[in-house]
Amino acid sequence: MFKSSTRDIPEAQAVPRHVAIIMDGNGRWAKRRMLPRVAGHRKGVQAVRGVVRACLENGIEFLTLFAFSSENWRRPADEVSILMELFLRTLEQEVTKLHENGIRFRVIGDTSRFDLRIRELIAAGEAQTAANTRLTLAIAANYGGRWDIAQAARRYFELNPEAVHDEAGLRPEALEPFLTMAFAPEPDLFIRTGGEQRISNFLLWQLAYSELYFTDLLWPDFDQAAFDAAIAWYCKRERRFGRTSEQVEASRA
Ligand code: IPE
Ligand code: IPE
Ligand code: MG
Repeated sequence: MFKSSTRDIPEAQAVPRHVAIIMDGNGRWAKRRMLPRVAGHRKGVQAVRGVVRACLENGIEFLTLFAFSSENWRRPADEVSILMELFLRTLEQEVTKLHENGIRFRVIGDTSRFDLRIRELIAAGEAQTAANTRLTLAIAANYGGRWDIAQAARRYFELNPEAVHDEAGLRPEALEPFLTMAFAPEPDLFIRTGGEQRISNFLLWQLAYSELYFTDLLWPDFDQAAFDAAIAWYCKRERRFGRTSEQVEASRA
């Protein structure tokens, strides 16, 4: 099990172990070029390749990408179906390449709402890459942070029905093994492109102590240099986890 940042203080690391990204701004990237929104989403897939490469080069262990939120179903039906089509094609074309590069592939989110073909490709991709250890790439699809916490609570009480009567109450850490990201440490660095400074129902629980980095760059323009700039910014943060600066200094000695 990975350390919970509110129970234990994670060890200091030179580079982040886990980077989580809200890839925002595809639509605006296309609009500025008088192109249909789908052109931005396609270009966005290319940006994903660059960031995966940058993670491999930097020795980052976990990369989590927000690809489709539980609220993105509110978009026009034709955009939703284009995004599903793109997800399907990307799964078909990329999973083998991930495997060849030693990358473990995971999907987090409520996949029950996806077409059978997509669910089959996810299951096959996860199985094929399960033993890889170089980098874990998690795609958040039909993911919502509130859904994640609620499904963890539901599964916890299913397995521990007597806990309902527990007078001590529910410890936050008790839920953690049931969260969809239980296979990863909490994100050290959160990045959102596209200029908005909000979480949009992404990893609400897991971002408790993440460093939050926002950039105006639109996702299709987020290249390796932009990623390196985010890492350099991260390296300058002092992660205190509730302690004083003096305590952090002393713990380094
Ligand atoms: C992010 O880009 C991709 C998804 C949410 C699927 P957007 O499509 O949100 O792009 P903007 O925010 O409209 O520019
Ligand atoms: C967040 O982007 C979700 C993804 C990047 C998949 P949105 O573009 O949907 O977020 P809001 O609606 O602007 O908050
Ligand atoms: Mg957006």
